[in-house]
Amino acid sequence: MQKKMIYFDNAATSKPKPAEVLQAMQHYFENIGTSPGRSGYNLAITAGRIIMESRERIAELLGVPDPLEIVLTKNVTESLNIATWGLLEPGDAVITTAMEHNSVIRPLREREARGEISLSVVPCSPWGELDLTAMERAITPQTKAIFVQHASNVTGGIMPLEEIGAIAQRHDCLLVVDGAQSAGALPLNLANSAVDIFAFTGHKSLLGPQGTGGFYVKKDVAKQMKRFLCGGTGSRSEFETHPEFLPDKFEAGTPNTIGFAGLNAALKFLKNEGVTNIRAKEEELTAFFLTGLKSIGGIKIYGPADAKKVLPAVSFTIEGISPAEAAETLEEEFGIMTRVGLQCAPLAHRTIGTFPTGTIRFSFGYFNTQEEVQTGLLALKKITNSNR
Ligand SMILES: Cc1ncc(COP(=O)(O)O)c(C=O)c1O
Repeated sequence: MQKKMIYFDNAATSKPKPAEVLQAMQHYFENIGTSPGRSGYNLAITAGRIIMESRERIAELLGVPDPLEIVLTKNVTESLNIATWGLLEPGDAVITTAMEHNSVIRPLREREARGEISLSVVPCSPWGELDLTAMERAITPQTKAIFVQHASNVTGGIMPLEEIGAIAQRHDCLLVVDGAQSAGALPLNLANSAVDIFAFTGHKSLLGPQGTGGFYVKKDVAKQMKRFLCGGTGSRSEFETHPEFLPDKFEAGTPNTIGFAGLNAALKFLKNEGVTNIRAKEEELTAFFLTGLKSIGGIKIYGPADAKKVLPAVSFTIEGISPAEAAETLEEEFGIMTRVGLQCAPLAHRTIGTFPTGTIRFSFGYFNTQEEVQTGLLALKKITNSNR
């Protein structure tokens, strides 16, 4: 008999997706399959509507009134690159934190290595908590922007976005947020907030397919930004130069329409379930896991270790067993899939003191059950006991 597998790697990508996602993608493939915004026949208009509906649904989820301020990309990494390359001019200074994912750090380091910008990385505590005073102190007259994650993919720790926004506004800096982990996992209301750019990815808590993502950008900020991709948009085809208006300014080439058809269905699902309810369930699973984990000897938990202060991702190490070894046993003996190592965030691991071996990360999603989490705890108990 095939072993029942348990998926605890939702911070990497959510699995499973709602059934409606696949149905919508199949429907697109079988019945639509046309290029959006480029032709006038009915089926092309239908494809165009899918793209527009994506913008509208995302704007609603993020709490912003104008769907044209939603630019669609293929993932949060692409969105953060558009922000990094588009927003920052030679001579600008940027502030970021010591908990960032490589998708934030690498584009910034790339520009720093080219001698174009200077980068200040604000320290965080060994629990991943940001030093807000140090952040404010790091600001200079050259500081153009603060780049910060909304939540850590390593510890799940949620950053104090409001306080960071207040700092940004006090010093007239732009605020760019990596919302990879929080979009779909936390209720959001970005209208009238200090956030200038909020980057998201479709395949994590938004429950959509890989290859979908985007960013929200305030209109006046978009005006200041340069783009690095030009080409066909289906709009203003008479001109050899790329349009300046949103969202076309940052979108070139045929989009992943089948992917956005799936994301639309996922967004509809999220709306019906309610992000507040999703957050409540995921918080409950995390609290249950943390309580159990704290009762197992030989386990060290990283980050706030408080379900109210984290998204459903928990990083830990087991005394005497490497994360890689533990993950192998978890999969082979118990059918449990986890993510070990550095989780693409070496800087965060330096901060929490787990570089270079990293941690074992259990990350839960809306479709996980308490029973599965209990199975995970029992497996960890057996692993730690057999190691004594
Ligand atoms: C905090 C954070 N930022 C950025 C990313 C990159 O996401 P994507 O690969 O969808 O661009 C991830 C994904 O692991 C993440 O957790």
